[in-house]
Amino acid sequence: MRDTILVTGGAGFIGSNFVLSWMESVGSRVINLDLLTYAGNPANLSSLDHDTRYLLVRGDICDAELVGSLLREHQPRAVVHFAAESHVDRSIAAPGAFIRTNVQGTFVLLDRAKAYWSEMSAADRAAFRFLHVSTDEVYGSLGPADPAFSETTAYSPNSPYAASKAASDHLVRAYYHTWGLPVLTTNCSNNYGPFQFPEKLIPLVILNALEGKAPPVYGDGMNVRDWLFVEDHCTAIREVLERGRVGETYNIGGNSERTNIEVVRLICDLVDEMSPSPATGARRNLITFVKDRPGHDRRYAIDASKISRELGWQPAQRFEDGLRKTVRWYLDHSSWVESVRTGAYRDWIAQNYTERLAI
Ligand code: NAD
Ligand code: TYD
Repeated sequence: MRDTILVTGGAGFIGSNFVLSWMESVGSRVINLDLLTYAGNPANLSSLDHDTRYLLVRGDICDAELVGSLLREHQPRAVVHFAAESHVDRSIAAPGAFIRTNVQGTFVLLDRAKAYWSEMSAADRAAFRFLHVSTDEVYGSLGPADPAFSETTAYSPNSPYAASKAASDHLVRAYYHTWGLPVLTTNCSNNYGPFQFPEKLIPLVILNALEGKAPPVYGDGMNVRDWLFVEDHCTAIREVLERGRVGETYNIGGNSERTNIEVVRLICDLVDEMSPSPATGARRNLITFVKDRPGHDRRYAIDASKISRELGWQPAQRFEDGLRKTVRWYLDHSSWVESVRTGAYRDWIAQNYTERLAI
């Protein structure tokens, strides 16, 4: 029986958490196809360096020949597709890479997966799955009193990132409806936890607070996100992979809506508690409101009742507990932090924040 899975983007934030938890829970062989862009870090998986069940292949999901040969050689029973350009602000600064990786790359994977799948035995064909990891941002922005996003909410993407993920979701759907490729799509809310690249809100604020630098809050800080601890997302993906209904989409969320300013204040307090600095004083006093993101979505919220009803999945981690663990992790992993804060990272921070004059 086939038990290998092909993961794309497994050296990124969610992908590396997924591979590590897969090894602990399922334990079957994982091939990780990752281009190792600025967001990909093989050191996240260094605990698997000598594990014969794990293979990292540095390569591009847009490379059809490579994808085809990996499928033929390793004969996976599933593709779990994380690889993407994932940061909204970068998609505003330079959208081209998002179209290439998120749209063209997903197309190449689907196309090669279809060719591979169509040559399998009937039993293997029935067992095969292509799981596409997507985002709630495809649904657009909610008003304060709107119901949370459900699987039937109309797509209304607002950023180049969200538009590129929406396009990829549509391609996944088309491969199911046209050819019957056994696909599953998950649309998840904002994740946080270990190994998140410090361009995203939570790790950026942790590190700024720790170092006595101003945590930058876009606009009025009243934008709302529905936060999910990354381990809960990984559990949900495993459930959908094993028991989700083929061709369906599943929304995944944390039932943890918080305004950005609440999150930032909470992080400041946690850093004060875990790493007190009399010289810096209360980190809350460092918070700085800066120029807003263009087209900034006001509110995201997920109605996760379908995955709860069909698969019995619920988030296990309370937001305040998950955030405490996350702050602890960043404080305990200063060498990881230093290894990802390269020159290119510093250039991005300068580019994104220098022009956002304090308001
Ligand atoms: P990330 O930016 O941390 O990691 C992306 C990974 O993809 C990196 O390892 C990178 O090297 C790799 N990659 C990029 N381009 C590639 C290419 N052309 N070929 C091969 N590999 C490539 O992203 P993440 O936050 O871990 O997100 C993973 C997936 O989950 C994405 O599809 C994202 O849209 C989705 N998602 C993320 C969140 C979130 O809050 N982070 C929420 C919902 C959904
Ligand atoms: P982010 O982590 O970039 O995720 P997304 O844009 O995919 O939701 O941002 C989370 C929220 O935090 C979003 O409303 C934008 C805001 N934000 C800030 O206020 N300051 C920052 O420096 C960053 C990076 C984000």
